[in-house]
Amino acid sequence: MENVVNYIKKNQDSYVEELKEYLRIQSISTLKSHKKDMQTCAKFVANKLKSAGMNNVKIIPTKGHSLVYADWMKAPGKPTVLIYGHYDVQPVDPIELWDSDPFEPVIKDGKIWARGADDNKGQNFVHIKSVEAYMKTKGELPLNVKFLIEGEEEVGSSSLEEFLKKNRKMLKCDAVLISDTSLYADGVPTINYGLRGLAYMEVEITGPNRDLHSGSFGGAFANPINELAKLISKLHNKNNKVTIPNFYKDVLPFSKKEIDNIKSLKFSEKKYAKEYGVKELQGEKGFNTLQRLWGRPTLDCNGIYGGYTEPGAKTVLPSKATAKISMRLVPNQDPKKVAKEFTKYVKSLVPKSVKIKVTDMHGGSPVVIPLDDPAIIAASKATTKAFGKKTVYTREGGSIPIVVEFVKQLKAPAVLMGLGLDSDNIHSPNEHFSLKSFELGILSSAYFFEEFSK
Ligand code: BES
Ligand code: MN
Repeated sequence: MENVVNYIKKNQDSYVEELKEYLRIQSISTLKSHKKDMQTCAKFVANKLKSAGMNNVKIIPTKGHSLVYADWMKAPGKPTVLIYGHYDVQPVDPIELWDSDPFEPVIKDGKIWARGADDNKGQNFVHIKSVEAYMKTKGELPLNVKFLIEGEEEVGSSSLEEFLKKNRKMLKCDAVLISDTSLYADGVPTINYGLRGLAYMEVEITGPNRDLHSGSFGGAFANPINELAKLISKLHNKNNKVTIPNFYKDVLPFSKKEIDNIKSLKFSEKKYAKEYGVKELQGEKGFNTLQRLWGRPTLDCNGIYGGYTEPGAKTVLPSKATAKISMRLVPNQDPKKVAKEFTKYVKSLVPKSVKIKVTDMHGGSPVVIPLDDPAIIAASKATTKAFGKKTVYTREGGSIPIVVEFVKQLKAPAVLMGLGLDSDNIHSPNEHFSLKSFELGILSSAYFFEEFSK
């Protein structure tokens, strides 16, 4: 193990250079104009897996973007770990708010800055390099490893979901290892044991059959933007609870253990508010911030448009207004059920003077993972060794919808070995990833292979 660790430490600079190459590929899954970059990126990942010493490297075409698979199965009698990650990234807009080119990575303040640096290229590359370090120093791995790196995580993982149903045998494993979440704080080794789910809706309100002059017509017709704003304002009450009927009915309350764990993490609400530039925080009454983020469902408007939004003024009574609204869900809420209740409720809120169309865009189920699983214990020992500190347990506010499917269909626990920081600006301008976390991540992964093979 010492050789592996030394090898990893010695090769940091070249790992960073390789990561830069990965980050230069503009693999934005949601934009059709980047279809070719998606293919280039899948090939890049496949090549890296090959040169790391993995076998059976395959680029698997799907209806959408390709999956990359590889395995190394030469440790009979030892457990098998499936490593999951995604090579697709979010769009870069608003581009003018970036301090440097999102696809020309720069190193500054001990961090690497580029789209995908944290989410998820930097984090999945860690595992490829830890495999490589074993292969280059020992010529073998202490356990069996499979990789599955997809290109549609940021758009809902629908191709992978289909693939998983048909290829359970191929993906059979004893644990799924994923680094696509966050550390509790910089330098604090963390195992995440929960993810929120998601129900993503679009609401479109239509008034008059065309845009109208707001002077000649204003006052005679319902204004779709006004009506949409009224509707949105009715979705929370004065205690910041979501008003959709039955919304909280299936929510699993916190256990005493969880409440104590959150207390022990000594979260400073004041510091948190300051970091994000607000005077005070706001959320569901009766819960503290970590509880609200990790174990309570929420409803947020993600975008709203209609009428005139360009510079200057145009007097117009618009025909349409649209809002994109997401709900983060927690066990045991069901995204389909929530989407249905949402639809029924918002339809009941609008007057006859406008039409409403509600679309269920996509969703994903929440998950919590039992902490007493051997894979979780091994991961916790591994991160403690790598970081030289006691590992903490957190849940996450974000979602990775495929995780539930892995757990259900492969009957294996998910080990969420988060390496990012919530302040890394994922999905936002100036995304970055700490080079220290990158190195400690590679070490954590290497130690995990050792611990889980025992
Ligand atoms: N890596 C994130 C999820 C995440 C972020 C988990 C931060 C924990 C902390 C992932 O790539 C992501 O962005 N997921 C989407 C899923 C959606 C598109 C279905 C999300 O959470 O919005
Ligand atoms: Mn993401």
